[in-house]
Amino acid sequence: MSRRIRLLPTQVPARGARVLLACEGRSIALFNVADSLYAIADSCPHQGASLCGGRLEGRVIQCCAHGLRFDLASGYLVNSTALRVVSYPVEREGDEVFICVDSE
Ligand code: FES
Repeated sequence: MSRRIRLLPTQVPARGARVLLACEGRSIALFNVADSLYAIADSCPHQGASLCGGRLEGRVIQCCAHGLRFDLASGYLVNSTALRVVSYPVEREGDEVFICVDSE
C-alpha cells in the first residue's frame, strides 16, 4: 500500500535545482528537471553512495562514487535493467506536491 507525503512549498526545488529531503526516516533526493519533479532514494543501488550531489544531465543522474548513471524517471541504470534505484511517484494537485511512498 502506498501513501502520500505532502511537501512544504519550501521543500520543492525550483527548475534546475534539487533538494535532499528527510521523509520519515528515508533520505529522498528530489530533482526538478524542466519543471518535472523526480524523487529517488538518496542511495545508489551499487554501493549506497548519495545520489543527490551527482552530476545531472537531462534526466540522468551520475553517481559520484563510481560513475554509474540512472534515469530519474524509471530509476534504472541507463541502457540496462540490471540495477535500479528506488524511485517514488510525485503528484501535483494545484500548488501542492506529494511524494508517494510505500508504507512498510
Ligand atoms: S556507489 Fe554509486 S556507482 Fe558505486
